[in-house]
Amino acid sequence: MKHKTNPVFPEGFLWGASSAAWQVEGATLEGGRSQAIIDLNSQTKKPYADNSIAADHYHHYKEDVALMKECGFTSYRFSFSWSRIIPQADRKVNEEGLAFYDNLINELLKNGITPIVTLYHYDMPCWVDEKYGGWHDRKIIDEFDYYCRVCFKHFGDRVKYWLSINEQNMQICYGHWLGVSKGCKDWFKEKWDINHIMNLCHAKAVIACHELVKDGKIGPVPGYVPIYPLTGKPEDQIAAMNAEELTQKVWDDLYVNREYSTFIKNYWKENDIHPDIKEGDMDLIKEAKIDFIAVNCYRSDVAKAPDPSFTQEIGLNKSGIKGDFTYPNLPGEYAMARNPYVEVTDWDWHIDPVSMRYALRYLWDHYHLPMVITEFGYGAHEDLDENGKIHDDYRIDYLREYIYNIGLAIEDGVEVFGINPWSFTDLLSTGNGMAKRYGLVFVNTTDDDVRDLKRYKKDSFDWYSKLIKSNGQEWGKDMKVWRDFENKSKEE
Ligand code: BG6
Repeated sequence: MKHKTNPVFPEGFLWGASSAAWQVEGATLEGGRSQAIIDLNSQTKKPYADNSIAADHYHHYKEDVALMKECGFTSYRFSFSWSRIIPQADRKVNEEGLAFYDNLINELLKNGITPIVTLYHYDMPCWVDEKYGGWHDRKIIDEFDYYCRVCFKHFGDRVKYWLSINEQNMQICYGHWLGVSKGCKDWFKEKWDINHIMNLCHAKAVIACHELVKDGKIGPVPGYVPIYPLTGKPEDQIAAMNAEELTQKVWDDLYVNREYSTFIKNYWKENDIHPDIKEGDMDLIKEAKIDFIAVNCYRSDVAKAPDPSFTQEIGLNKSGIKGDFTYPNLPGEYAMARNPYVEVTDWDWHIDPVSMRYALRYLWDHYHLPMVITEFGYGAHEDLDENGKIHDDYRIDYLREYIYNIGLAIEDGVEVFGINPWSFTDLLSTGNGMAKRYGLVFVNTTDDDVRDLKRYKKDSFDWYSKLIKSNGQEWGKDMKVWRDFENKSKEE
């Protein structure tokens, strides 16, 4: 649809940024917190950088909130660390852990910033892993329910927006990368058991939130990567649909329709997969009606018909050197490829602002639920220049064009109530630590040298601040984005 004017963002639109506990807090063994599996991974440094300090948000939270206020934020999306709140298997609640999040939440509210809290963002406590083998044992469902209930009861008077599990789809699709496959003998099959247990944990969180938090709203956080067919070949379209199903739609359908789709049931049958779905499980899932979808969307992918003669698993770019990415080829399912029409980051992520409009339109068409954007952002190699500045024009371009496309989606009729780019301060990337920075605020630390952890506003901070304070009217220099197909064709 063609829109003649710049988009108008609704009154009360939430403008903020995003983070996750293990990537930003540090202080992993302070304040009564016990270790999480992801800490152990990070101690091996590569591919994870050490998170015992990270951005040291634990000690800098007041200064960080003051910067958010200066930027004009009206929301902040962050996660609780389960092992900070319940550090041991005895289920005793850690008062110091609650106090840290109380202080953070109160500081946000005092500054007019709405907290949006993720309950689980990749940081499985070691005690849960030791006792149950992580997500393998159904007993984790009760532990997770107990943890969520502690959070809802304690913080529910002040936190009204809750997110269940961050990117469950990515945890299953990239199980080796994120450590979820640990202990599995046959990941191809067992991942569907783990996924089912995660679905039950998500359902428990949704039900408990509605029971315990007055006016509380809760949603899942799918990692959404729009997938286009590489060409107009019908086979490429089917491949794109297969990729869409097997990397995200299966999850989104479950959250919204609260039943497994016929696609995935047939896929299981075809592959002799029998997830352990017990009596009563689907009733629980049916009861878990979500209020919104939180969307993480950084990039797009393209799919093509796979070559039946060989199998190639996806190989993520871990070096930050362009081209160091292996596209998967999965016979019977799909293959993926480089999209020749868009640029890529140093980690080979397609930079595709239009895909954000596509994603929002797609999700709205399929699910008719309000959405909040909880992650999108530009990862880059960065360090201070001789004047103590970071001139991150590439990030400004990325944010401007992505946000503009969110605005266009709103004008197209999609309901979006806020955006929270990744990330506020620099923090550890899942794969590259501080070597891949996303922040609006530079944190003076590297993977090899802790430095002084001082905060420096990047150029993108000032740009975003102007946009927020004008409720999405001040876009800065000329935009590359196109409003309609006519303008795009003129450009080419
Ligand atoms: C999202 C995760 O998938 O992507 C974040 O929720 C992560 O935790 C972000 O940091 C960016 O990915 P990466 O690998 O560049 O850190």
